[in-house]
Amino acid sequence: MPRGLFITLEGLDGSGKTTQIKRLAVWLEKRGVQPVITRQPGGTPIGDRIREILLDASSMVLAPMTETALMFGDRAQAIFEVIQPALDAGKIVLCDRFTDSTEAYQGGGRELGTAVVLELHRLICRNLQPDLTLLLLPSFDASLARARRRNTRDEAQTGKNENRFEQEQDAFHRRVWEKYREIAAREPDRVVLIPGDLTIDEIHEQIVEAVAERLLLTGRPAQG
Ligand code: TMP
Repeated sequence: MPRGLFITLEGLDGSGKTTQIKRLAVWLEKRGVQPVITRQPGGTPIGDRIREILLDASSMVLAPMTETALMFGDRAQAIFEVIQPALDAGKIVLCDRFTDSTEAYQGGGRELGTAVVLELHRLICRNLQPDLTLLLLPSFDASLARARRRNTRDEAQTGKNENRFEQEQDAFHRRVWEKYREIAAREPDRVVLIPGDLTIDEIHEQIVEAVAERLLLTGRPAQG
């Protein structure tokens, strides 16, 4: 059985990843492919508990290395429980964030640097690499404003304040943004950068173009 296809979506909070994952899943389903959809942090029962610690705004005193270790703890569990079994079964996995997020947020935002993140990835994730990463980078100001609006709305609906990261200063998010651009420049074969303030439909078009190309390359032509 050939290995499945591992696709990750990345971007700043408020870049529209979650909407795009749903649209991409519908596009694949129309072509007879049932993807496995997951997200990080979270996506497994253990991961959901780790996510609560990581995103809860009351966990303010979390050392950057603790935060990084928890991200990798979550990821190891997701690989073990969800991602690797699905890839071994030849499935397409759509993952909302993966190690690029750790490189951007902890490596860039928290200034731990790239080397420590990639080394942990090698040790803990056995260097599992996505086949394709779709990096949504709308303008910095637009995504930050959108993320902050979304969190106020979510908190009103769920009573949970999951915005520990959004509460960071603009300079933190700027470093995340820059690290993402650095990753895209370093790995142009894997990372498809979708920049600018495009509409949801325009972003979707670019995503399906990149995915269709990858499907063709792996011998699974996407008709229709
Ligand atoms: P989400 O709202 O897109 O699920 O992301 C959760 C938050 O966690 C988001 O602010 C980015 C952050 N994050 C990291 O800082 N490092 C990581 O490795 C991951 C996966 C997420």
